[in-house]
Amino acid sequence: MNVGTQDPSHLTGGQKLAVKYYTVAVVLFTAQILFGLLAGLQYLVPEFGYNVLDFNVNRMVHINAMVLWMLYGFIGAIYWLVEEEAGTELVGLKLGNLAFWVLTAAITVVVLVYVFVQTGPGEMSTIWLINEGREYIEAPRWADIGIVVCLLVFFWNIAATFMKGKWSGISGVLVLDLVALTGLYLAGMFYTPNISVDQYWWWWVIHLWVEATWEVMIGCIMAWALIKTLGVRREIVTTWLYIEVTLMFGSGILGLGHHYFWIGTPEYWLAVGGAFSVLEPIPLVAMVVHALYDSGVHRFKNSNHPAMAWLIVHTFGNFFGAGVWGFMQTLPQINVYTHGTQWSSSHGHLAFFGAYATINIAMFYLALQKWRGNVYMSAGLADNGRKWKWALGLLSAGTLGMTMALLVSGYEQSFVERALGGSTWAAYFEAQRTHWFMQGMFWRQVWGVITAIGLAILIWDMLTIGRKETRSMVLPANHVEATA
Ligand code: HEM
Ligand code: HEM
Ligand SMILES: [Fe+2]
Repeated sequence: MNVGTQDPSHLTGGQKLAVKYYTVAVVLFTAQILFGLLAGLQYLVPEFGYNVLDFNVNRMVHINAMVLWMLYGFIGAIYWLVEEEAGTELVGLKLGNLAFWVLTAAITVVVLVYVFVQTGPGEMSTIWLINEGREYIEAPRWADIGIVVCLLVFFWNIAATFMKGKWSGISGVLVLDLVALTGLYLAGMFYTPNISVDQYWWWWVIHLWVEATWEVMIGCIMAWALIKTLGVRREIVTTWLYIEVTLMFGSGILGLGHHYFWIGTPEYWLAVGGAFSVLEPIPLVAMVVHALYDSGVHRFKNSNHPAMAWLIVHTFGNFFGAGVWGFMQTLPQINVYTHGTQWSSSHGHLAFFGAYATINIAMFYLALQKWRGNVYMSAGLADNGRKWKWALGLLSAGTLGMTMALLVSGYEQSFVERALGGSTWAAYFEAQRTHWFMQGMFWRQVWGVITAIGLAILIWDMLTIGRKETRSMVLPANHVEATA
């Protein structure tokens, strides 16, 4: 195995499978950004694409591609680490590969149907074949069944590999979390003609995924990544992981109530949702402290600079995007003004990017390092690390810029439509014609283009990093005394 190699043959079976998942993840990430740009443009030029590629379709592909690329990234990350963590080979490599191809083929068909069959009759056949109409997880039911089967294969593969090999604190939490992750998806397949009941269950997937099971999953991935990049002692990360998971589930599960304020559920949800969801930022602070403390103790000496930098961006992004931006609008007294405005979208963008895009990118870099033959990725890279630094800077600045622009528009909506206009239909439109709302939409597009440039540089860097490098990876110093 040469340093700088392009040949993946030295990777383990699980790692090769992970590379496949990562590749599709990056393709879907690109699709997300392109369709986001189209949807954003339609705010500025409303007739653009009308009746050809409508706003609702662009928006749907934008957010479905996002959920999927992140899931692909997570599945990839877990396949990447499972063999090393379990100390044995993946038990069902063939089945795992089959599930990958089935899932990817199903997703391709679903997206083609989204784009080419944009409407359908309001019947069960539409739910089965075209679109289920539930935001973020619109996939038709035939695909849902396929997704569940593929997730079960994935779950079995991971659990059985740990069972055959050895367990650890990280793997125990991870496997329990995957039970919840797979199980919750079922709640999003349930059809009822009552919209309140429908939304009630749908939030079990969306909220309980991103604010409970996904957070726990990235807690596990982060713990593993800190051991890899910094050489942090396992007892330390495992202790942090247990604390974070307890706080996360303690606040996130009933925090679900912040989506039950106005959908026709009983009034006690105002109190339950408000009280528990204001506690949700606490584990996110713990995560920042955890990662920064460990990095500081190791004096930021690590084996993979791009990965480590993205992990740090992740902890801050998670804290600000989810914790602060979520917290801002989570009390019912405030949410009554901000609900469903661009304010929510502002939070949605910063949270998904900050919490989940970032840690996935960190894991891509860890994989690339090994793929290129455990190549050197610390200080003083060939191009001075210019490409990865620009990609990180532009992607982060772009998303932050969009977040701020959306916040301005959202503030204007809350003020004009809700506070002044009393939430009437006329006020809804009036708010969206105001100067500041439109300014926000314009600047979102500008920052969106910057985000897209950041992604292009990221892909360029991922295709080239380490190729001409002749140095080998610097192993992190293990067992730094001060961490004891
Ligand atoms: C990484 C974690 C998180 C992600 C990815 C996330 C993402 C989102 C998204 C996309 C929405 C819009 C949903 C829609 O389409 O209606 C949303 C809504 C909301 N989020 Fe989060 N969120 C996260 C964490 C949090 C936290 C920690 C809090 C509270 C402290 C929070 C509070 C809220 C509230 C109150 C709403 C409802 C907004 C409205 O009324 O329109 N979120 N979140
Ligand atoms: C080129 C950059 C991007 C542009 C132009 C863009 C544009 C848009 C637009 C126009 C919408 C529809 C909002 C609405 O219904 O009013 C949207 C929704 C959304 N986008 Fe993006 N987006 C971009 C990048 C991203 C990124 C990087 C993420 C996260 C990783 C993201 C996550 C979301 C989410 C979660 C929603 C749903 C928000 C909600 O309904 O509250 N987008 N985006
Ligand atoms: Fe939530």
